Amino acid sequence: MRAALLALLLLGCPSAAPGDAGPDAADAPRTYVPEPFAPTAETIAYCGARDDAAIEARITELLAELTPDEKIDLLAGDGLRDGTWEVSGVPRLGLPGLHMLDGPRGLSSFTGLNGTAFPVAILRGASWDPALEERVGRAMALEHRSAGADVILAPTMNLLRHPRWGRAQETYSEDSHHMGAMALAFVRGVQREGVIASAKHYAANSIEDTRHTVDVVIDPRTLREVYLPHFERVVVEGRVGSVMSAYNRVNGLYCDEQPLLLQTILREEWGFAGFVESDWIWGTHGDVSSLRAGLDIEMPVEVEFRGLRRALRSGALDERDVDRAVRRVLRAVLCFGLDEAAPRTPGTRIDRPEERETAEHLALAREVARRGLVLLRNGPAAAPLLPLDPAAHAAAGAVVLLGRNAERENIGDEGSSAVDPSDVVTAREGLEARLPAGAVVTFAALDDAARAAIAAAETVVIVTGLTAEDEGESDIAAGDRETLALPEAEVALVRAVAALTDRLVVVLEGGAAITSAAWDGETEALLFAGYPGSEGGHALAEVLFGDHPPTGRLPFSVPVAEGDLPPFDNVSEEVVYGYLHGYRHLLSEATPAHYPFGFGLSTTRFILGAPRLLTPTVGATGTVELEVDVTNEGPRAGTETVQLYVAAVGSRVPRAPRDLRAFAQLTLAPGETATVTLRVPARDLRFWDEEASSYEVEAIAYDAFVGTDAERTTGVVRFTVEGG
Ligand code: BGC
Repeated sequence: MRAALLALLLLGCPSAAPGDAGPDAADAPRTYVPEPFAPTAETIAYCGARDDAAIEARITELLAELTPDEKIDLLAGDGLRDGTWEVSGVPRLGLPGLHMLDGPRGLSSFTGLNGTAFPVAILRGASWDPALEERVGRAMALEHRSAGADVILAPTMNLLRHPRWGRAQETYSEDSHHMGAMALAFVRGVQREGVIASAKHYAANSIEDTRHTVDVVIDPRTLREVYLPHFERVVVEGRVGSVMSAYNRVNGLYCDEQPLLLQTILREEWGFAGFVESDWIWGTHGDVSSLRAGLDIEMPVEVEFRGLRRALRSGALDERDVDRAVRRVLRAVLCFGLDEAAPRTPGTRIDRPEERETAEHLALAREVARRGLVLLRNGPAAAPLLPLDPAAHAAAGAVVLLGRNAERENIGDEGSSAVDPSDVVTAREGLEARLPAGAVVTFAALDDAARAAIAAAETVVIVTGLTAEDEGESDIAAGDRETLALPEAEVALVRAVAALTDRLVVVLEGGAAITSAAWDGETEALLFAGYPGSEGGHALAEVLFGDHPPTGRLPFSVPVAEGDLPPFDNVSEEVVYGYLHGYRHLLSEATPAHYPFGFGLSTTRFILGAPRLLTPTVGATGTVELEVDVTNEGPRAGTETVQLYVAAVGSRVPRAPRDLRAFAQLTLAPGETATVTLRVPARDLRFWDEEASSYEVEAIAYDAFVGTDAERTTGVVRFTVEGG
């Protein structure tokens, strides 16, 4: 059904029925005086360097000139036109519209154009490097602009509440703090290039198969402390241009009809000055109710919002309610300078292919892929297998390559985040490019020839994991995963090969945790590679052969078994989102993860010194600061990610055992020592007081645990917040 509707949109979109359209836009002149509008601190900040006062005044003039129908035209999409999802502008007033495109890992394949496939966000999240992510945002903005887009439908920033979520790969993390840092960097990168980012899907959207109907039942503390802080960060610190409402319901109301989410929290508390668009097709559930709740644009075409025209005519809707939404749309258009671009010619698409898949963007995709690769296992302890010595792998047949993803262009979901690069470097191609011709031999199955080759090989590499057939967006792609386990045939392959060699590397591709506790002890090395994008094969070869050290750290927990996590319910119409998931849940149950959140091995050895607390006491608006010395005592250069988790001591409300509140990264040569400073604003220690309906920073003691993952802490210091 959705696919049919999508096809209709791709071929040509419906326009409003004649009866709905009301009087013609070229209506008789009228006298309409819009409400005056005084810029606020938030609208000023939203406009950045542009003259906000002049822009707001111009919007007021435009609101007087636009006809009611033209206003409502600005509040709905017109389908896919000239290669982008368009909200038409008003040419007679020199107003351009908006041109949106997915998405989270590069230029949308809906365009039919080639673009760089950046590694999926979960792998970029594994870099724990916001500065790198900002560069990805900039590059993606340039590629989108080259295809005529001025809005990128990204970042996807829903918490990875459970790794079976079909869109796990599109997001950065199971943790709100880590998510906030990465999404903020992406938004900054995109918007520095003058393209509008859209934070999606607001909010509590972490299940695919029931995404159109599920009612997420969530208590105020869980919503405020777990599911919203990362959105707050991109709004308050990132001044994100737009927000996409989610399909699902939250506590009984669909997200597009939620005054609490769209008005009270987003606008009144966070000061969001941009526009909210609905998710696509069946993401708008009301006309006047959605508009009044705070939804500004129905995407991708006007269906429910036709009712706005009727309501205006009948007097059920006041034009000033419409003006509020129109002002937000026009503010985005003018504050992002979209009116300064050359006017578009209908029927002509913008396409500058020379700005996509540039050498610089491909190099960035490669850098990000290798920075995100997570080394999970590297044995035996006395002589770890990785890095491999290229000189020892130069002979014919030195590397035997197997596994379902060894030769696959495995770049991720085929839903709305799909991209279409002109070339993908597979694992096979990457390894072949790194070694002399003939050094890598590939087998599709473990037959006699493969067994013989393994017997003669130096090292065996199995590239396996998941594909777009196993996980993705629902309706148009695979939906939620059925299991956290690797497909049985692949486990059997790993085990059979492990019995034949003691030099086995397994590479797991996929969107999030794949359980491996039952079999990975039989391997020497194990890596998580996400979906590594256009240049993934090169990145893999560079890390395996030690050209670059492995630096990734898991942005999710890998449990021993799925049963260690809270249940994943993608069939019920009502699902309770609890306060604890991921590492916070595992710690509270005292259940060790197989590989904890934040975990990743190096090919060198780092020692963290005792943390030095610089601020034993802070006020509720102060910032806690501590320093940690990090020494590279190993034989190679490497990158360490120092993590700070905070536990409230004697809180009057139940809390997680500890929460990530800061992290810092540093790259050290062998023998080098450097100091990292970790900072935690006391505000980030707040909890939501349900009785008072406000946040409170408790004036109590807190323990700051420093470590290299959520479980392994190397030092703890206690500080106090005063006068909370
Ligand atoms: C997805 C959004 C996407 C939109 C447009 C929807 O199905 O949920 O994330 O931006 O389609 O492609």
